[in-house]
Amino acid sequence: GIPKYVKIVEVGARDGLQNENNMVPTSVKIELIHRLVSAGLSVVEATSFVSPKWVPQLADARDVIGSVKNLDTARLPVLVPNLKGFEAAVAAGAKEIAVFASASEAFSKSNINCTIKESLARYRDVTHAAAKLNIPVRGYALSSLDKPIIVMHRLLYVSCVIGCPVEGIIPPSKVANVAKELHDMGCCEISLGDTIGIGTPGTVIPMLVAVMSAVPVEKLAVHFHDTYGQSLSNILVSLQMGISTVDSSVAGLGGCPYAKGASGNVATEDVVYMLEGLGIKTNVDLEKLLEAGEFICKHLGRPSGSKAAVAFSRV
Ligand code: HMG
Ligand code: MG
Repeated sequence: GIPKYVKIVEVGARDGLQNENNMVPTSVKIELIHRLVSAGLSVVEATSFVSPKWVPQLADARDVIGSVKNLDTARLPVLVPNLKGFEAAVAAGAKEIAVFASASEAFSKSNINCTIKESLARYRDVTHAAAKLNIPVRGYALSSLDKPIIVMHRLLYVSCVIGCPVEGIIPPSKVANVAKELHDMGCCEISLGDTIGIGTPGTVIPMLVAVMSAVPVEKLAVHFHDTYGQSLSNILVSLQMGISTVDSSVAGLGGCPYAKGASGNVATEDVVYMLEGLGIKTNVDLEKLLEAGEFICKHLGRPSGSKAAVAFSRV
């Protein structure tokens, strides 16, 4: 059966903002994190300690984590791509981190400039250093689950950019292998990222079957983007398969600057609305969450990517 409680991992302040071209002031990021935490979200990914040349928007990671690190009602993990990022994160006061490995060679190269194997070796160093300091590590296993199935010429376009040109479609076993490697090196939770949001229940289910044979289901999370409007369906089938941790982003913000065509994450408001409808507890105050979404959308000068938020603002 589906879980009674779902833990939401809010990624708006990191995944949501990393793709924004206009610099968001540090103070706005900090207020967003405060608002998300006070809406009851228990895990709020705060920022990334990646190269500022690669992701200029998050160049203020030290200041962001520095001013929220003492919020004790939520966990505030930060993304790190290597030991250098790990050391900077710890020095700035981060108490939890996340590493991110791709199941596609091409995407690994374009996102973190190394092979899958090299990335896993780097992350072994990171998890080793983190274990010494008792710092929990979350691992992302990134995939493009499949090619989009409808528009054939676009299909080829996407597959060249994100699917591996050598391997084509990323088979579920590759995602399972990366997830297992992350689990074996000590990651306490593995988030399965459909980075460009092309998965459907038809591809998500076999991927989850493969991953669940390699990593215990309690350790798994799902991370969907809504590029093709499939994210809530994908979440629902994941819940039915026993997953109880879901990543989402306030107002549906997000996208990866190194994954062309990636659009926003599934909106946290929409996830909470669906979970409430299913009678699943989240501990999130939807009213406060909607206000946090309004706050950041007003700042970005753009309508919310959450259908629930748009609908609520009309009633
Ligand atoms: P590189 O150019 O190969 O790095 O980048 P390098 O080791 O050759 O170093 C180059 C320069 O970067 C040096 O500085 C380093 O010191 C510096 P310079 O000597 O030129 O002045 N550097 C760093 N600076 C700050 N923090 C660091 C760091 N490391 C090196 N940690 C690197 C390799 C991994 C650094 C780069 O490719 C990078 O930062 N990539 C991050 C890309 C990124 O953030 N992508 C988005 C996150 S993943 C995602 O969004 C998907 C997810 O949401 C799930 C989903 O949606 O499915 C998680
Ligand atoms: Mg993402």
